[in-house]
Amino acid sequence: MHRIKAALAATTILAGATAAAATDLEVTHWWTSGGEAAAVAVFADAFNAAGHNWVDGAIAGGGNARPIIISRISGGDPMGATQLNTGRDAEDLVKAGLMTDLTELAEKEDWANIIRPAKLLDACKYEGRIYCVPVNIHSFQWMWVNRGVYEDNGMAVPTNWDEFAGSADKLREAGIIPLAVGGEPWQINGMAGVFTVALGGTELYRAIQVDKSPEAAASPEMTRVFEAVAAARNMVDDGFVGRAWNDAANMVITGKAGAQIMGDWAQGEFSVAGLTAGKEYDCLPGLGVFPVLDTGGDAFYFPKPADDNAEIVAAQLEMASLLVSKQVQVDFNLKKGSLPIRGDIDLAAANDCMKKGLAILENPENILPSGEQSWSSDTQGQFEDLWVEFFNDPDMSAEEAQARYVEIVENAD
Ligand code: GAL
Repeated sequence: MHRIKAALAATTILAGATAAAATDLEVTHWWTSGGEAAAVAVFADAFNAAGHNWVDGAIAGGGNARPIIISRISGGDPMGATQLNTGRDAEDLVKAGLMTDLTELAEKEDWANIIRPAKLLDACKYEGRIYCVPVNIHSFQWMWVNRGVYEDNGMAVPTNWDEFAGSADKLREAGIIPLAVGGEPWQINGMAGVFTVALGGTELYRAIQVDKSPEAAASPEMTRVFEAVAAARNMVDDGFVGRAWNDAANMVITGKAGAQIMGDWAQGEFSVAGLTAGKEYDCLPGLGVFPVLDTGGDAFYFPKPADDNAEIVAAQLEMASLLVSKQVQVDFNLKKGSLPIRGDIDLAAANDCMKKGLAILENPENILPSGEQSWSSDTQGQFEDLWVEFFNDPDMSAEEAQARYVEIVENAD
């Protein structure tokens, strides 16, 4: 008996020794709000439970984080893994061969058939190889409405943009800021994109975002979008300039404002505040006009480690596999307020808003290309600058703004 115990003990020690050594991976991302932090903790916990060490490298604000992340990788100081938007952010880094190739893992785990819509994985490809793993589907096409603000003032809760716009004056009379907005460029630019679909329609959106048509950019339908954005700038408070998106969300959560147009990551804040969709707040996809989603979102990239360190690459592949796995996808997206990148999971815990989003996702006709996947970073910056200038300058007419918008589309790369 003694010999058997000794053999078992030896086997256990050997097994422990041969298990993958714990590897530290520094992970950069810009998920620093309450909801985002709760969501990214799901990833960190899963990676640590696998026996490794998630070294968190949070950098607040996408506008700050993105250039830091890109310059570190291109400058030879790579992190172990990083979040970026699904799209063209890392295009130059992938082309320069600075990212770990995930193709073998993707083929082994059949990502091509489990990740939907296919364009999410397509955005990770270069010359037929795969260099990122999409982790969620975020759409900007949402409006978040505080129900209590309307019920307490004897008003009908708006179900679409026009009803909301019609309620703005009465809200102001009740001392409520109609629209909560954060003045950061990406927020203004994102809101303008939502108006383009909700008021211009999906054909107009595609004509501009996919076909890059200057005629569509100059159309009367697009004029209506510029006029609505002009109206929206009269529905905000003076403190909107520079306000963070989650502080604007908090204005709706606490009833200081009636509504916010923001991506579904805002839902993570409502969740952390203990609010229930359909009870304390409503969510209107496509501003309740055109219930469509753009399939933006986030993907994880794994910069090549110095000397192609095999231990780090192995840990990178292990993380990529975890991020796309069923349980992690459910737990992460429920906290993030986003939709999962795979359709073969049980989302019994999904709330009313996620159920609305999943239903929209069922019909490919309802899926729009996200701006991040159509325009270069430079062109995206030009759009942002124009919308920010227009939203901040009440003397800038819709006509003047639209003329400049057409020029950007005409010269887009
Ligand atoms: C987006 C990102 C979301 C959310 C948002 C606000 O770019 O895809 O995950 O974090 O920024 O920070």
